[in-house]
Amino acid sequence: MNIAFFEVEEWEKPIIQKALKGHTVSFFSAPLTKSNAAKIKNYDILSVFIYSKVNKDIIAQLPKLRFIATRSTGFDHIDMDTCKAKGIKVANVPTYGENTVAEHTFALILSLTRKIHKSYERTIRGDFTLEGLRGFDLKGKTIGVIGTGNIGRHVIRIANGFEMNTLAYDVRQDAKFARQMGFKYVPLANLLANSDIITLHVPYLKATHHLINRDNINKIKKGSILINTARGGLVETEALVIALDKGILAGAGLDVLEEEFFIKEETQLLSKQFPETCDLKTLLQNHILLKRDNVLITPHNAFNSNEALLRILETTLDNIAAFSKKKPINIVAN
Ligand code: NAI
Repeated sequence: MNIAFFEVEEWEKPIIQKALKGHTVSFFSAPLTKSNAAKIKNYDILSVFIYSKVNKDIIAQLPKLRFIATRSTGFDHIDMDTCKAKGIKVANVPTYGENTVAEHTFALILSLTRKIHKSYERTIRGDFTLEGLRGFDLKGKTIGVIGTGNIGRHVIRIANGFEMNTLAYDVRQDAKFARQMGFKYVPLANLLANSDIITLHVPYLKATHHLINRDNINKIKKGSILINTARGGLVETEALVIALDKGILAGAGLDVLEEEFFIKEETQLLSKQFPETCDLKTLLQNHILLKRDNVLITPHNAFNSNEALLRILETTLDNIAAFSKKKPINIVAN
């Protein structure tokens, strides 16, 4: 079969070539676009990451395409209706990084509680003073975990290692896991009122849009820290700014932001051709957050470890092998 990989990095090529011996494999470091799609018009299988927008126009240029293996969990960058209509199967990587994202969560927590980011800024200037760098222990503190799925569960395991107490909130409760790990499920308001650290691990859905908002931010225990490694839209940015201003929150660690795409693409906002609409107020509030020294922002990087990327690649190669043997796995459509 002819198989094309887009958005591929150098280290991935030998692994892919070895696994797909006997197939014709082409590599492209760029995302798939309308202008480079012609190069793969006779290809049967396509593998992309999230920056390739596999839309109707592109699919129309690929008459032989039968299978798309996305190297991600999400597949909203692929036009699933067109794939369905054309009989193209799509497979994803359902899980790859529960420990990876949980570890990044604790990287943010520890950076804030021990003021690592502020310490680093100071010592690279040759300043070794301690004033303003006093932190607090995690041992004995309460962590509120919102969402006890794959990532949230791993956060709870790590929290137990630090001898923290855990409160959890989820629409689906796992009583057995709670017993095993020694934590309690509580209503959201109770979690907000009693946690020293609040961490979000729910998907972004209509039901979770602005889960932390202007109405409930006042219920948060004064001096708590909020961590968001899930999706920006879970937190109403304005509420976050207010909570930090009022000292309700002592800090925030954010791997994701509302409108985070636009913070990367700001120069394009002024261009007439820019097709997207964007909430400029939120963008401005993101800049306010960026400037605060008790807010630590990472660029949607929680998934980005060597091991997680290798797991993504291995699952993708398994997905392609299974499809070639007519026994597809991890199919998300059709
Ligand atoms: P999961 O599906 O295993 O767990 C999600 C949990 O949220 C489930 O227990 C579910 O019952 C709960 N939930 C769903 N709707 C809810 C609601 N309305 N209220 C309360 N609880 C609700 O997901 P997983 O793998 O733990 O990932 C969580 C999120 O982390 C993902 O949806 C994704 O947005 C984010 N993520 C971020 C990454 C990054 O690089 N920053 C990388 C991977 C995931």
